[in-house]
Amino acid sequence: MVRRRCYGVTTVVSSPSTSRRLVRRALIYAMGARPNFVKMAPVIRRLRERLPDARHVVVHTGQHYDSMMAEAFIEELNVPEPDYVLGVGSGSHAVQTARVMARIEPVFEAERADLVLVPGDVNSTLAVALVAAKLGIPLGHVEAGLRSFDRTMPEEINRIVADEFSDYLFIHCEDARENLRAEGIASERIHFVGNTMIDSLVSVEPRFRELDSAAKLGLARGQYLLVTLHRPVLVDGPLLREVLDQLGRIASELPVVFPAHPRTRKMMARMPVAPGIHVLDPRGYLDFLSLEADAAAVLTDSGGVQEETTYLGVPCFTLRDNTERPITIRAGTNTLLGLAAESIADIPAALASPDGQRRPALEGWDGHAAERIADVIATALDAAQETAVARHIPV
Ligand code: UD1
Ligand code: UDP
Repeated sequence: MVRRRCYGVTTVVSSPSTSRRLVRRALIYAMGARPNFVKMAPVIRRLRERLPDARHVVVHTGQHYDSMMAEAFIEELNVPEPDYVLGVGSGSHAVQTARVMARIEPVFEAERADLVLVPGDVNSTLAVALVAAKLGIPLGHVEAGLRSFDRTMPEEINRIVADEFSDYLFIHCEDARENLRAEGIASERIHFVGNTMIDSLVSVEPRFRELDSAAKLGLARGQYLLVTLHRPVLVDGPLLREVLDQLGRIASELPVVFPAHPRTRKMMARMPVAPGIHVLDPRGYLDFLSLEADAAAVLTDSGGVQEETTYLGVPCFTLRDNTERPITIRAGTNTLLGLAAESIADIPAALASPDGQRRPALEGWDGHAAERIADVIATALDAAQETAVARHIPV
């Protein structure tokens, strides 16, 4: 028997004397930044269960490399040990994207996968999507279709490109479907599966609920503001000092816990920080979720944190002019403050008169999104294999 593998579909060519045998299927999961691990851990787990005979190849691009930005998540979320670590590190957008592209291409050549899966909207996502598209490897995008309609954000460009070249667009809100349809993406490529970031949260909820990470900082549950900020527009310029100033003013009334992203920490190095602001290194996933679930409120510019606070029913204040996650605002948990440091002063009063819905139930934010992704993929791979067999094996 002659086996021939081409990207995309496993084809089988047999001589009339041989029996039907299919080549083992392969899936590549490519990720590289903190939120990527959270979104992909349940997807890898479910696909390994669903397709036990396939090869499941995990690639860590190394976009994030500090142990508390990467390894901590791999361990706490039980992501399998990566088969490839590309070690791309930090750099300008072009340098970082190009390094991922150059280093993943030989992986794709070696592994000859039937499908590549990427999550989210980081530079690693863009780079992997472009290489897969050029090699003609089917591509799936987890968290497709989100749009801030702000092309000054690098993430917006990354999302648009990843979606354009994806064969399987896995969405977790109806806004995403509308955005993709408006860009001319065919309905057959779009699959409403729900939110895999919430799958991860649900899977560890009993563990983080018992942690009481606030107590370790000498704070009471429900009586502090949790802050995370890392967008360049906010932390790379003068706004960061204004934000710290405003946080200092409310900290005597509402203590502030600020686990700072390394980008933010570097910028804060020489800035004065008022007493009452607890600046911390980035937290591990469980520790952070404990702080998030028990906070009086969260101030953030993070995409994932807007979603997690919605699931948890914790008031969230987003220090941005826009969000690609308007569903969190409609749910009543998230308030868009604008890119205006002075609006932080209004947070204590807003908390005194809460009007948001607590723990809204959103379709597909239920802990089972990755199972639905696995269903779609398993069905599609089976169909592709059947087609290959029908084309190449005389019956
Ligand atoms: C990236 C994503 C952003 C995502 C965020 C999640 C892009 C364009 N941006 O932003 O969409 O929301 O990850 O956290 O892909 N650094 C370290 N150690 C690390 C990682 C980064 O010190 O492990 C520092 C370096 O100084 C680096 C800077 O942080 O230059 C920025 O890192 P980078 O990965 O380029 O972007 P993020 O701001 O992390
Ligand atoms: N997170 C964490 N520790 C922290 C800050 C965030 O574990 O100190 C988690 C958070 O719970 C969420 C994810 O990291 O699951 C969000 O990542 P980030 O804000 O870096 O990226 P974004 O979602 O904005 O792309």
